[in-house]
Amino acid sequence: MIYLDNAATSWPKPEAVYLISDKVLREESGNPGRSGHTLSLAAGRRIEETRLFAARFFGIQKPERMCFTLNATDALNLALKGLLRSGDHVIAGSMEHNSVARPLETLKERGVEYTKIPASPVYGTDPADVKAALRANTKLAVFSHVSNVCGTVNPIAEIGALCREHGILLLVDAAQSAGAFPINVEKMNVDLLAFPGHKGLLGPQGTGGLYIREGLVLAPLREGGTGSRSEELIQPASLPERYESGTQNTAGIAALGEGIRFLIEEGPEKIRDHEAILASRLIEDVRAIPGLTFYGPPAGAGRSGVVSVTLSGLDPVEVALILDNSFGIAVRAGLHCAPDAHRTLGTLERGGTIRISAGCFNTIEDIDRCIKALSAIAKE
Ligand code: ALA
Repeated sequence: MIYLDNAATSWPKPEAVYLISDKVLREESGNPGRSGHTLSLAAGRRIEETRLFAARFFGIQKPERMCFTLNATDALNLALKGLLRSGDHVIAGSMEHNSVARPLETLKERGVEYTKIPASPVYGTDPADVKAALRANTKLAVFSHVSNVCGTVNPIAEIGALCREHGILLLVDAAQSAGAFPINVEKMNVDLLAFPGHKGLLGPQGTGGLYIREGLVLAPLREGGTGSRSEELIQPASLPERYESGTQNTAGIAALGEGIRFLIEEGPEKIRDHEAILASRLIEDVRAIPGLTFYGPPAGAGRSGVVSVTLSGLDPVEVALILDNSFGIAVRAGLHCAPDAHRTLGTLERGGTIRISAGCFNTIEDIDRCIKALSAIAKE
């Protein structure tokens, strides 16, 4: 099996991610922050260690402002529904994932005003368009850092500077960039950063986080036991527990910590360069396949490793099935939970694209086999 679906979830994981999950489940699985005995304290330490790693990785100065969530979708829902109220105005791009677009449609029904800015599939959102969309009641701008469909990169630092200048909050969906692109919430003026643990950060599914800038208060999506201030019947104001009710995924969070440690030790730049080399090879070679259309930014530094293509006359899902069944190659085809991105690319009506996403453990041979397989399918 050649796994080229790292944009959906990264696989395989670094060996240490598997090992720590097993160790924590066997030896350190008390309830973190609850009972106070040795096992409970060990579990709590694991969670706080990962919090420190994640904070360091994203330039977050106060680690307690980094709250664990189930995934990026959970973090985005907390940020959007916890912040926006009737009468507020929010600006988003036209290539957002449903984890942003759907909550915003729901919030629209609750009286939130919503402007969707057309994005360029090559350059992303133009900060000038964000400026033009500002209103007196604009509270938030929300943008993906990188498109999950075709690797377009939004100019987040520029948008962040603009938002700061105009007193607007910026929420960044880092689902496709965390671990693959440098992110520093201070330097980029990011107020809320939503990220998954199971993609570029190389942790397990069911992990993610939301960074919440100091001074911002969100309504929690979940209330309940936090292991603190138990005598009070209202949710604590202090972080991270305000947004972390219920028992945490200790083994998963500990494993996420090992994923981040791996990235730090290997060097995120080295991993990024490797993925860029794989994407460039793929883009340059697939373009020669007759009947193949390529979407998104050209090969080079201004894109992520996610590559989207279509083959003339063929349903993308059918191509993905052939790749899996006849060639042992795993990709994701269809709309990738991002119909707006496909609308922007012009691929919505034809059933989306075939998305090929290499990760840090893929090799150039994997890419060459995928190119050969697509060539063979195109010739049939
Ligand atoms: N959002 C993930 C993807 O793009 C699951 O495949």
